[in-house]
Amino acid sequence: MAEKVRVAILLSGRGSNMLALSEYKRRDPDRAYEIVLVASNVPEARGLVLARRFGIKAWARSHRGIKREEFDSLLDAVLLEHKVEIVALAGYMRLLSPGFVEKWEGRILNIHPSLLPSHKGLDTHQRAILAGDEYAGCSVHVVTADLDSGPVVAQARVKILPRDDPDSLAARVLEQEHLLYPLALEEYCRALREDEAKEQERDAG
Ligand code: GRF
Repeated sequence: MAEKVRVAILLSGRGSNMLALSEYKRRDPDRAYEIVLVASNVPEARGLVLARRFGIKAWARSHRGIKREEFDSLLDAVLLEHKVEIVALAGYMRLLSPGFVEKWEGRILNIHPSLLPSHKGLDTHQRAILAGDEYAGCSVHVVTADLDSGPVVAQARVKILPRDDPDSLAARVLEQEHLLYPLALEEYCRALREDEAKEQERDAG
């Protein structure tokens, strides 16, 4: 079995997706990834408390008073220090600078609570209801310089019910997020190792 892909999770809030990712890994040590770090721009984030409680290394630094590029270079340094290979955004409420995204090209995943390309940005559930959409859902995508616009790697659909308000819909979508994100991350990490193995074979041959 190839070495585990070293994953860092970035969050700014409650951290339920972070827990789902770590729980999925904990249930089966044969998973392709391991979570080596949880990092946040919000030192008081609930997700950090949970991460520490589950024995995951947590790093936090407030972004206030620091330029975006400067903050991201601190983040980059801590990721390198922990030999991180894949960054999984899970409720990270901060735009990453273009330089950071470029450096980590193809190595950052995000989960977004809509069926992309519909409803990028905030208030996705309210907008899906107002638009009269039949389905809402969530998407895991590769992060590129444009917000919520990178290639989608996995999606789950949730039917919008006549009685739904943004909160009830968000709750059902969140359940799907917790199922989808671990599967998508696992698959992405396996593909990464397979690509590396193929490359090594090519180089050797
Ligand atoms: C999730 O709905 C996710 O799709 C969005 O931010 C929310 C984070 O929730 N990007 P949590 O912190 O993982 O509970």
